Parts: sequence; C-alpha cells; structure tokens
Amino acid sequence: MRKKIVAGNWKMNKTFSEAEDLITEIADALDEMELVNTEVVLCPPTLYIEMASDVAEEANFKVGAQNIYPADAGAFTGEISPVMLKELKVEYCIIGHSERRKYFNESNEFLMAKVDSLLKHGIRPIFCCGELLPEREAGQHFAVVKKQLEESLFHLTAAAFGMVVIAYEPVWAIGTGVTASNEQAQEMHGYIRQLVAEKYGAKTAENTSILYGGSCNGKNAMELFAQTDVDGGLIGGASLKAEEFIQIVSSL
Ligand code: 13P
Repeated sequence: MRKKIVAGNWKMNKTFSEAEDLITEIADALDEMELVNTEVVLCPPTLYIEMASDVAEEANFKVGAQNIYPADAGAFTGEISPVMLKELKVEYCIIGHSERRKYFNESNEFLMAKVDSLLKHGIRPIFCCGELLPEREAGQHFAVVKKQLEESLFHLTAAAFGMVVIAYEPVWAIGTGVTASNEQAQEMHGYIRQLVAEKYGAKTAENTSILYGGSCNGKNAMELFAQTDVDGGLIGGASLKAEEFIQIVSSL
C-alpha cells in the first residue's frame, strides 16, 4: 500500500533559532499523534539539516533536502552533494520545484541527472511537476506534466522508480492562495497515475505516492487529501507554522 506523506518545504525561510523552535514544536506535536502508514517529512534550508536530523532521531518525522548538485564531490563551488546529505541521514530531496526551474533554469534533462544522483545514494526524490497558468488556459496542462515525467523520470527502471515520490504543483497555485479545486487535483493525479501504470504497470502505479502542492493549508487539506489519487501534500507557506502544519498532517 502506498504511503501517505505530508512534506514541509520551508524554502528560504527561518533563522537557525526559529528553525530549532519550529522543529521542536512539530516534533512534540507529532509525539502525541498516531501515524499509520504515514510519513511526515521536513525540508528545511540545508544549513539546518544536521540539527533537524538530530531531532528526527528521536522523533516521528524524516528529513528532506530542497536541492542537490548531481555529483558525488568536486569543483562545484557553493553546491551540496547527495553524499553529504546521506551522511546526515537525509531520506528525501525535493527535485524539479518550479522555483528552481524558473530562477535557476533547471531543465528536464538536468533534473534527470539529479534524480539519478539521489537514487545512486538511496535518497528518495520528491519530484515536482506542474503547469504554468497560460499552459492550463491553453489546455496544455496534461501534455506539460507528461513531458516533465517522461524526460526526467521515465528512463528509470521499475525498481528505481519505486523510490520516487511525485508532487503535482500547478505553478499558478504556488504561494498565490489560489488552490487547485478538488476536481482539478484529482483529474491530474489520476492522469499521472495512469501514465505511471502505462510505463511501469498497475502495481507500481498503485504503490506510487502522488502529493498535491500549491496553497494547501489547514482549511483545504482535508478535502484535497480525500481525493482518490491524492496521497498527501507538499506544503510551502503553511508548513512554517507548527499548528497549521500539524492540522494538515491530521487531515490525512
Ligand atoms: P505554498 O504552499 O506556499 O503555495 O507552496 C507550495 C510549494 O511550492 C511547496 O513546494
């Protein structure tokens, strides 16, 4: 059975002391909860990963990174390798977020290299896909998502693909307060699962966790997560407040 996952993408937010407070608050609240077949993942800025991993050792959450450079080591000034993250017990890494595609010009081909590099070290990619508003308005949203999956993921073997979590994040819903409707989310998630089934078979598709991201919050999470093919969420702004993030986890 596929896992339910709520992952918090903190993006470039919080000072070290604020991050410590937030992680402690979330860990304490998770201690009181019974999570069945459910994973909570915190993806703080890289600087805070060691601290987060120390807390995670005794807590009910996993640690994820927000980015890597696809090489084990070398002359890549300013970058972080999956080997470094693995040593700090990082289990997940967000790949292909629209902010990285937009501000850092990350192509589907480069993202493929990142996915391979993570899998080489046993770190699970949370692979983001999703269309821009003009693409949806032009009716191209299915084609855009299909191309992103085909060009960055579908070279994988079925066994390797089994490590991947997919996050559908329509770009027009990210940080805008405009969430996808339940129907829009379900329609795309169902489509993604269908694509995975065509490529890897029904069993792999059934076992793939597909998360929704984009203005998901304490109020709308329950309805979104109730959709058949929505297996949880990748949460931005609402993951920065312990109470609301926990409310979202409770909505699974
Ligand atoms: P918001 O939840 O702030 O819209 O961000 C979503 C997101 O980009 C998560 O990766």
